[in-house]
Amino acid sequence: MKYCLPLFFLSLISAVRFSHALDTISTTAWIQEGQSLISAQGTFELGFFNSSDSSRRYVGIWYKKITAQTVVWVANRFKPLRGSAGVLKVTSQGSLELHEKNRTGEIFWTTNSSAPNGGSPVAQLLDTGNLVVLDRAGGNILWQSFDYPTDTLLAAMKLGRNRTSGFDRFLTAWTSPDDPSPGNYTFKLDPGGYPQLLLEQGDTIKFNTGPWNGIRWSGTPNLTPNPYYAYEFILTNDEMYYHYTLRNDTVITRLFLSSSGVLQRYTWIDRMQGWLLYLTEPIDNCDTHSLCGPYGSCNINNSPVCGCLEGFNPKNSSEWDLTDWTAGCVRRTVMECGKEIFVKYPSVRLPDTQHSWFNRSMNLQECEAHCRSNCSCMAYSSLDISGGGAGTGCLEWTSGLIDIREYKEKGQDLYIRMSESEKGLLQSNKKKHKVTIIAGVASGAFLIVLALLLFFVARKLGKKDKSKTVKGFRLDTGQNDEGHDEDLELPLFDMATIAAATDNFSLLNKIGEGGFGPVYKGKLSNGQEIAVKKLSSNSKQGLDEFKNEVLYVAKLQHRNLVKLLGCCIQEENLLVYEYMPNKSLDSFLFDQEQRKELDWSKRFSIVNGIARGLLYLHQDSRLRIIHRDLKASNILLDNDMNPKISDFGLAKSFGGNQTEANTNRVVGTYGYMSPEYAIDGVFSIKSDVFSYGVLVLETVSGKRNRGFNHPDHRHNLLGHAWRLFSEGKPLDLLDPLMDGSCNMSEAARCIQIGLLCVQRCPEDRPTMAKVVMMLGSEIELPGPKEPGFFNERKLLGDDTSSSSQAAYSANEVTMTLLTAR
Ligand SMILES: *[C@@H]1O[C@H](CO)[C@@H](O)[C@H](O)[C@H]1NC(C)=O
Ligand SMILES: *[C@@H]1O[C@H](CO)[C@@H](O)[C@H](O)[C@H]1NC(C)=O
Ligand SMILES: *[C@@H]1O[C@H](CO)[C@@H](O)[C@H](O)[C@H]1NC(C)=O
Ligand SMILES: *[C@@H]1O[C@H](CO)[C@@H](O)[C@H](O)[C@H]1NC(C)=O
Ligand SMILES: *[C@@H]1O[C@H](CO)[C@@H](O)[C@H](O)[C@H]1NC(C)=O
Ligand SMILES: *[C@@H]1O[C@H](CO)[C@@H](O)[C@H](O)[C@H]1NC(C)=O
Ligand SMILES: *[C@@H]1O[C@H](CO)[C@@H](O)[C@H](O)[C@H]1NC(C)=O
Ligand SMILES: *[C@@H]1O[C@H](CO)[C@@H](O)[C@H](O)[C@H]1NC(C)=O
Ligand SMILES: *[C@@H]1O[C@H](CO)[C@@H](O)[C@H](O)[C@H]1NC(C)=O
Repeated sequence: MKYCLPLFFLSLISAVRFSHALDTISTTAWIQEGQSLISAQGTFELGFFNSSDSSRRYVGIWYKKITAQTVVWVANRFKPLRGSAGVLKVTSQGSLELHEKNRTGEIFWTTNSSAPNGGSPVAQLLDTGNLVVLDRAGGNILWQSFDYPTDTLLAAMKLGRNRTSGFDRFLTAWTSPDDPSPGNYTFKLDPGGYPQLLLEQGDTIKFNTGPWNGIRWSGTPNLTPNPYYAYEFILTNDEMYYHYTLRNDTVITRLFLSSSGVLQRYTWIDRMQGWLLYLTEPIDNCDTHSLCGPYGSCNINNSPVCGCLEGFNPKNSSEWDLTDWTAGCVRRTVMECGKEIFVKYPSVRLPDTQHSWFNRSMNLQECEAHCRSNCSCMAYSSLDISGGGAGTGCLEWTSGLIDIREYKEKGQDLYIRMSESEKGLLQSNKKKHKVTIIAGVASGAFLIVLALLLFFVARKLGKKDKSKTVKGFRLDTGQNDEGHDEDLELPLFDMATIAAATDNFSLLNKIGEGGFGPVYKGKLSNGQEIAVKKLSSNSKQGLDEFKNEVLYVAKLQHRNLVKLLGCCIQEENLLVYEYMPNKSLDSFLFDQEQRKELDWSKRFSIVNGIARGLLYLHQDSRLRIIHRDLKASNILLDNDMNPKISDFGLAKSFGGNQTEANTNRVVGTYGYMSPEYAIDGVFSIKSDVFSYGVLVLETVSGKRNRGFNHPDHRHNLLGHAWRLFSEGKPLDLLDPLMDGSCNMSEAARCIQIGLLCVQRCPEDRPTMAKVVMMLGSEIELPGPKEPGFFNERKLLGDDTSSSSQAAYSANEVTMTLLTAR
């Protein structure tokens, strides 16, 4: 590709200087390790840099004026230098080459460019950060690094493609923060339908920005006009690309694709001498590609986040209820072509445009007519809303609509094709579900009555036979949510059904005894297995806790939380859960025989699953919940040994900002309680983190924290783990029964993360978000401080004689302490 060189370019080319910092590389002047190439204004520098262990060396470009070395481009990311010193030179043919000083044969990297005969090729670093190879005689750019981005998009770089030649410029993340070789994540323009940008891991789409709407990408509401940079999407017959330009040359900002697959925009703040994270994508769970499947809709303020678009039902409701939403939703009424209406869904993120069609000159009426005329058109919207009003242009979708999400603001109107017979139903639900119908609203009492009648008939038909619906339960979320109706639809089982299912609460069916009462296994007449928790009349868990649990659990849905199927509040208070055939984690972990079944990969996935479930409780679910009694016996295992957190009886919601609370009833289990909670009754999400840390250490060691004893010392498991860690042999903690199956680096990370979670000061402990991140990446972990309850027995004034240890290790129940306050 040849670019015409503007005049000012030529003036930048100055005479060759032999010094440690060159401004031009030519056939007679080259740079070797220890030297660098600097741009005219000294903004960028090109030189050699090392991996942190110095075993691999690369040629890269970084900001010259910034103290923290920030590499924005790498030349030889495929083939690092390992042996003798490297040299970067321009050949007389016109290509820039990297090879070792002594062995000229092996080329580590080359631009493959060629200059015309007799030309005089030179390489130069421009102040934009662009490394160019020029033909000084002809004034053409022979090659430029901006055409081969690595993981950073600098100002004026193009992210996109040439439509004629198909030449594509996209970001490829590093393998890890210390390894520039191409990793699994890419961020590139998808030219399929109307262009959108895709963040992919291998061939799997992780996130898409949605189509460009003239103002921003439909799925990036945080991309807003700002004092630092202006951004734009260009679509011509020849090219399509995204780029941004600096508003002021003094601004330093970059868009970066991290090795863990997150897009981040950083801006350098001189005063702080640091990079400020300015924007990040994806933002939340709802940004996960195809999370809710076709015709699903994601709303981050809902729990669960996925719902079906109005007029649609889950395709597979059993999977849907288990929070596997990938199958998506299907139309409630089969659509007949030619008899349809278009329903307006206001303020949504537009769907994935891989299968779309567009015309930039149509208006919205023409767009509707065009969509109506073709039965495979499922929805349409305006293409460009930058001019305000209804917008201009036409964008149509021809397959299942995925990636729709609801936005409070900054969404767009989407018109979806619906069967004409849905008209009445949609109208009657209008108030509840905020669906607006574009078709003229026919008023009149008669019509409304008719619609309501239809609505109730439809609901009745769609309802399961034996279960009724409790409508009276209302959840107090502690925050006023604009008067949203929070009615729960929780199936109500009657006593007779449950008694029949459990063989009249036969002792044979009893599978456990919680802190609140017995738990029975049962089988409904349709064959479904259930676990029934009976609230014993003398239980410490009163009606309040019972209601609490019902409401919380019903609201929470996540694959790592046990699912509540329904309840019964007749003469007995009962909770009906899905049955977990593999019982609880403690029945495996603390049993000599069963423990053998838990190899490392199972334990690691259990530790990960619990972390995700807890993160959901703490942060991702709208309610923000502290579990307060996390322990091995509250972790149930499904058929595939996936962990599911159970027992929210003690769950207490803490509203939006409140992360710590004081209670005069301390509820929890010795061995898992954090010091600040057990002693002062102060609980916070960090007390759950403590319990999680104990669980992690128990899982890797196969030993209980409480009742742990060791011939050498009198510490509990936490103290023991800490001791081994500080002696530099943390892996001695591992359960010997896992020998052979263990991934040592994962295990070492787990132990360190466990220790970080059980640190004495709550402020020192990581959040669950951090824990999930640390478990899933290779980032460096901080060194843990001494754990809390290093020697728990002394603190709680427990008897340490070995006879009583046996007693309390065998029987572990939830305690309630009343403290005077
Ligand atoms: C990089 O590695 C080379 C060769 O091993 C060494 O001479 C140099 O000091 C290293 N530089 C840094 C910054 O570590
Ligand atoms: C590399 O070249 C330098 C001088 O250019 C020489 O001193 C050194 O011995 C050479 N090393 C090897 C391994 O050939
Ligand atoms: C340069 O050309 C060689 C041989 O055709 C090819 O293997 C290599 O991938 C090319 N390098 C680049 C950076 O295009
Ligand atoms: C796109 O590619 C074509 C064919 O290689 C070329 O003629 C054209 O100049 C390119 N356009 C741009 C903007 O680089
Ligand atoms: C990239 O994907 C491959 C195959 O899925 C996997 O083996 C490898 O570990 C991944 N690499 C990174 C850095 O995630
Ligand atoms: C750019 O920013 C600097 C520092 O904030 C300011 O002094 C200068 O006036 C700005 N230049 C322009 C063209 O806005
Ligand atoms: C729903 O999904 C479950 C589990 O994947 C499967 O067993 C069942 O056959 C599916 N039902 C339908 C109607 O597709
Ligand atoms: C787009 O719509 C305009 C106006 O209806 C029409 O003239 C034009 O041919 C259409 N272009 C395409 C590519 O369909
Ligand atoms: C309807 O749309 C589909 C998908 O865009 C297209 O393949 C088909 O040719 C269209 N049919 C008509 C009659 O325009």
